[in-house]
Amino acid sequence: MKGDLLWLSSVLLLLPGAGSCPEKCLCHTSSKSVDCSRQGLREIPSELPPRTQILHLQHNHIGDVPTSAFSRTPLLRTLDLSHNAIFTLAPGAFLGLAHLQVLNLTQNSLHSLESKVFQSLPQLQELDLSFNNIQELPEFKGDTLSHLTRLAVQKNQLQQVHRAHLASLPSLRALFFKDNLWKCNCHLLDLKLWLESFVYKGGITDGVICSSPDIWKGKDLLKIPYELYNTCLPLLGKGGPIQPQLPGTAQQDPPQPSHAQEQVDQSRSDCEFKPKARPVNLRHAIATVVITGVVCGIVCLMMLAAAIYGCTYAAIMAKGHGEPLSHINEPGRPGEERGPLSASLA
Ligand SMILES: *[C@@H]1O[C@H](CO)[C@@H](O)[C@H](O)[C@H]1NC(C)=O
Repeated sequence: MKGDLLWLSSVLLLLPGAGSCPEKCLCHTSSKSVDCSRQGLREIPSELPPRTQILHLQHNHIGDVPTSAFSRTPLLRTLDLSHNAIFTLAPGAFLGLAHLQVLNLTQNSLHSLESKVFQSLPQLQELDLSFNNIQELPEFKGDTLSHLTRLAVQKNQLQQVHRAHLASLPSLRALFFKDNLWKCNCHLLDLKLWLESFVYKGGITDGVICSSPDIWKGKDLLKIPYELYNTCLPLLGKGGPIQPQLPGTAQQDPPQPSHAQEQVDQSRSDCEFKPKARPVNLRHAIATVVITGVVCGIVCLMMLAAAIYGCTYAAIMAKGHGEPLSHINEPGRPGEERGPLSASLA
């Protein structure tokens, strides 16, 4: 590393014009700072004093940071790139900045970050990524960002952050996450658990305000009641009694049971992407209707069968009884009628 630096400095010394102050910048040799802010710059100046420790490039029109953009100023400690139009950071944009402590990228147009982009910054303490369009945080590797104490990502488009990405930042003390598109479903439970222990250990955070689902909209993830845990715990895969160790969750008021049921269903569907489960009451109602229908159907069929049987039986009986009666009566009638007549005549 030292050999590289020596080689780099000697190359820089040999280059004509290398290390001179760019036309549009103010170079303060005593403070080792260079101010190129508000100069309408579209690119990072290629010629900078190699001993620069503080570089102000804010309020320009810089659109991208190419690989090794600052390799000629390897002693940088503070780099302010805020208020530019940076859309892309090359994966090796900050290569060689072994002493960089503060990197300010707020108010740019970043929407994605290469996972390796901050890995070459072993001394980085403050990283400001606020006011961009970032949708996903890169996986910060602990062994390279082991000194990061302050991370600002507020006002971006984050929906979720994996706990593992933050757990690898052992020195983190302040975390700014407000004004993102936080999707407060079971996937964010991981973050909630991590944040709770982070705050418990003295960490500072400005809160994670949910923007969806509707039931949690506007609520702080840290204040979402306990009920969410019950549905999400089996999904965590880790299981185990996590709740008792959580500070600040036990005091929560239990919400109304009907609400709780709704929340349960909502969070389940959010995590498993299953169709929303029907409430128990509705399921009971459907079962009751189905059973009633079946029973009624059977009864109706039996009644119909009984009616047919009854009619048929009645018809047969009517036929059977009708014929003998007429046979008996017809021949009998004249005899009977004649009987008394003849008797009276006689
Ligand atoms: C980055 O710059 C903005 C102003 O442009 C400032 O408000 C903010 O505090 C700076 N962040 C850090 C970490 O220095």
